[in-house]
Amino acid sequence: AEDKALLALLSVAGTEIPGELCHSEMNLIKDRLQVNCSGLGLTEVPSALPNTTGILLLNTNHLASVSTASFQHLPELIELDLSGNRLGALHTGAPLPLLQELILSHNALAVLPTLQGLPALTHLELNLRGNRLRMLPEKAFEGLTGLKDLDLSDNALEEL
Ligand SMILES: *[C@@H]1O[C@H](CO)[C@@H](O)[C@H](O)[C@H]1NC(C)=O
Ligand SMILES: *[C@@H]1O[C@H](CO)[C@@H](O)[C@H](O)[C@H]1NC(C)=O
Repeated sequence: AEDKALLALLSVAGTEIPGELCHSEMNLIKDRLQVNCSGLGLTEVPSALPNTTGILLLNTNHLASVSTASFQHLPELIELDLSGNRLGALHTGAPLPLLQELILSHNALAVLPTLQGLPALTHLELNLRGNRLRMLPEKAFEGLTGLKDLDLSDNALEEL
């Protein structure tokens, strides 16, 4: 019964600060702090994330719109998984200079986000079963000299 009461308390606290429900652990292979917020029904990016977060899993939530401004307090962020949300837009006005990997598969994107603020990107997954890209801007990947792995499968692209 005490366990149940504690759990109830925790879940009440969690609705106020969803970030507290994210499980953090060192990813020993990548030697980065990995914060797992997947599958929590989030509609917003949690604000209380550790500032040493290197890998952030926000997949399988209900995020409809995300801005890179939400991650400006995470200067060590190198991987961001936003797959399996409801993203119609990703606003990238605020740069993420170290971000190497961005996973956007299984969302509802109709346009490719501007990628110029992500100069370190090497791995971009837009594998879009459920995304709706029909065309890519001519200079979409300009300046992304490190990009090695680009997955654009399952889109509605008419030309590239
Ligand atoms: C993240 O958490 C979810 C839900 O608890 C779990 O199913 C998943 O395996 C975790 N992912 C990783 C990479 O640890
Ligand atoms: C994180 O916050 C702590 C305490 O506020 C600070 O000492 C540390 O330098 C910060 N680390 C980063 C990477 O910003």
